[in-house]
Amino acid sequence: MNIHFKRYSHLTLHDQICQYFMDRISSNMIKEGEKLPSVRQLSKELGVSLVTVQKAYQQLQEKGYVESFQGKGVFVKSLKQPKNIYNTDTNWQMLIPDYVPRAQSLSISQPLRNIRYNLATACIDESILPIDWIKKVTMQVIEQYSYLLGQYSSANGDSEFRTAVSNYLVSKNLHIPPEHILAVSGAQQGIELVAKTFIGPNDIVLMEAPTYPGSIDIFKARGAQIIPIPVEQDGIDTKVLLKICDQYHPKLLYINPTFQNPTGTTLSMKKRKELIDIAESYHFLILEDDPWSELYFQEPPPPPIKSFDQSGHVIYLKGFSKFLSPACRIGALVTEGRLLEKLIAAKSISDLGSPLLTQKIIAALLQSTELNTILQHLRNNLRKQANQCVQLLHQNSSLLMFRPSNGGNTIWVELPKNVHADILLEHAHTKQLSFLPGNACFPTHVPNQYIRLSFAALPADELEQAIKSLCDIIHTLSQKYDEIERYPSF
Ligand SMILES: Cc1ncc(COP(=O)(O)O)c(C=O)c1O
Repeated sequence: MNIHFKRYSHLTLHDQICQYFMDRISSNMIKEGEKLPSVRQLSKELGVSLVTVQKAYQQLQEKGYVESFQGKGVFVKSLKQPKNIYNTDTNWQMLIPDYVPRAQSLSISQPLRNIRYNLATACIDESILPIDWIKKVTMQVIEQYSYLLGQYSSANGDSEFRTAVSNYLVSKNLHIPPEHILAVSGAQQGIELVAKTFIGPNDIVLMEAPTYPGSIDIFKARGAQIIPIPVEQDGIDTKVLLKICDQYHPKLLYINPTFQNPTGTTLSMKKRKELIDIAESYHFLILEDDPWSELYFQEPPPPPIKSFDQSGHVIYLKGFSKFLSPACRIGALVTEGRLLEKLIAAKSISDLGSPLLTQKIIAALLQSTELNTILQHLRNNLRKQANQCVQLLHQNSSLLMFRPSNGGNTIWVELPKNVHADILLEHAHTKQLSFLPGNACFPTHVPNQYIRLSFAALPADELEQAIKSLCDIIHTLSQKYDEIERYPSF
């Protein structure tokens, strides 16, 4: 167990311990029925007083995360009778120090095995992705480059891949030489490399709230102090951002400005330029994560923030999983100068370089003369699916609030006040249906009132069934809790 206490946090030590356990419990790293370390063990290990740990456990209990059994200890609350109480075989492992405070990405993907209707993962179903084209190009690449199967890539990436990315980015108003591009194993690794290179315990990281859950996992694991900034209809709230910058010394802003995961919002052109001014004034880095900008439904989105960057404050991250192939696990980091040198060093420490063959495949896909037609087709299919999802939500529930997005594949839905996302998820699982509870997208805990639906993660013909079923459950729960509130049992 390893808790980086935040020196400048407004949270007390017991709040921070409580937050740490809430993160781990809600991302299923500590499971229902598991026993927490004793008060004495934990206070010794963390170097805090017994009272601090007691207060933290009490808070956890009040928030409904744990229950305490006289003489036995404190256990993660279980809806069923805790199974593990008497099974102490591996409980000692809880005390082995580790550095992973939460893993929402895992908790999203793991329970999906028995799920028929997956509205949870922000991916695109194979019936919508251009799989035949990807397969054809892959076969050609394997034929052409089979000799590379016996070779490593260089740490910064294959030169053909970097040239293909450089040419591709021109369509986004980015004129980047191949030497400024670093191949990474998926955008997720890109975020991790930046965090690993520049962020350490207690560094201040600014993030949109809500934001992409996988990025929170990374910055929390670095021991960063995360300050959430609200997201408005036209992207991050720059007034709040300015106030925070006046008060703290942020080191990095992580932002997903185009068809943001989860809200689908897009940062306006004005705010993109404003962000550059703010980053220059307060000298922090911006990590611009851009996996979705190809997937627009009407007009193309504004160019990346990086295209306005004259002073090297922006590290641009291009993911290829959302419109090409997630299986290739390839993305690209774009930056220059000392930042790039340090990132290449970190990359070589991480994995010596991304897989050569899949870099070649992504390069071939990006260079293909069919790319534009394929992307247009993909956008059309996604737009249809997004419209269908919005229509179904309108038809089947007047209780929900949501704003249709102009691109991407997620829709952010506000539930009626009396329906909690976690309880809804439990009921949804019994119908083999899943979605992402909104609290996974906030670095700190918030009312459990939002859910993220990924409308392209399942084939079009199953979307109707999935949304109808979800709306039915919401109605049933809302009625049930409405009655409980109106006729409380004394
Ligand atoms: C905003 C954002 N960044 C990064 C990722 C991870 O992408 P990749 O598959 O390229 O690692 C995702 C995946 O959902 C995402 O939505």
